[in-house]
Amino acid sequence: MARRKLVAGNWKMNKTPSEAVALIEELKPLVKSDDVDVVFCVPAIDIPAAVEAVKGTNIAIGGENMYFEDKGAYTGEVSADMLLDAGAKYVIIGHSERREYFAETDITVNKKVLKAFEKGLRPIICCGESLEQREQGITIDWIRQQIKIAFLNVTADQAKRAVIAYEPIWAIGTGKTATSDQAEEVCGAIRACIRELYGEAVADQIIIQYGGSVNAGNAAELFAKSDIDGGLVGGASLKADFGKIVNYK
Ligand code: 13P
Repeated sequence: MARRKLVAGNWKMNKTPSEAVALIEELKPLVKSDDVDVVFCVPAIDIPAAVEAVKGTNIAIGGENMYFEDKGAYTGEVSADMLLDAGAKYVIIGHSERREYFAETDITVNKKVLKAFEKGLRPIICCGESLEQREQGITIDWIRQQIKIAFLNVTADQAKRAVIAYEPIWAIGTGKTATSDQAEEVCGAIRACIRELYGEAVADQIIIQYGGSVNAGNAAELFAKSDIDGGLVGGASLKADFGKIVNYK
């Protein structure tokens, strides 16, 4: 089955609301595409302005994180309903920076994934190994464990709407991209894991992205791989380069 490519920007902690609008105005004409889906995942406080700014375009807006409870005494957190009501359609869950700096675990990732699906947000679920794990030769085992826990109690109907982003930690923000063969090997293993859990139809539909120093120069080679359905892009999503990544062909 031919899957549509999905290219998402992860703005991380960059851009105020007014800066977000200015960047979207700059990128709008550059990210037009008939065959690639485009998402900008922006800081929560930027979402209302970003949703307004992308009206009438092919760009969808996503959050970068959410909490797994519906509401209540969780100072500083953002709920799925808040994201949805503001107009977000996607949410990044379990980014390695959240795991490293904000103590997220595979268990909290699973809770957030379940809540996102329950509410109708499309989760972009992140996984990835450290350099040490790669050197120890345990990359595939590690990723399979992350995926299996992230998808605990997720139904097949939900799973086929999931997006998985494979982001080797050593490639994030380092300028050191995984080779297309390294990225394809792990993305293929993730699809095989989904096949074991949910069968062929879900494995065929699920979107698996690569992330980690994707740029205008390497996107075409990475996205040409059969198990890589697009990218989750950090630094280069804040520049005109992002248009070249979306229109990589
Ligand atoms: P860079 O593209 O800046 O390496 O970041 C990747 C990333 O973390 C996207 O989520």
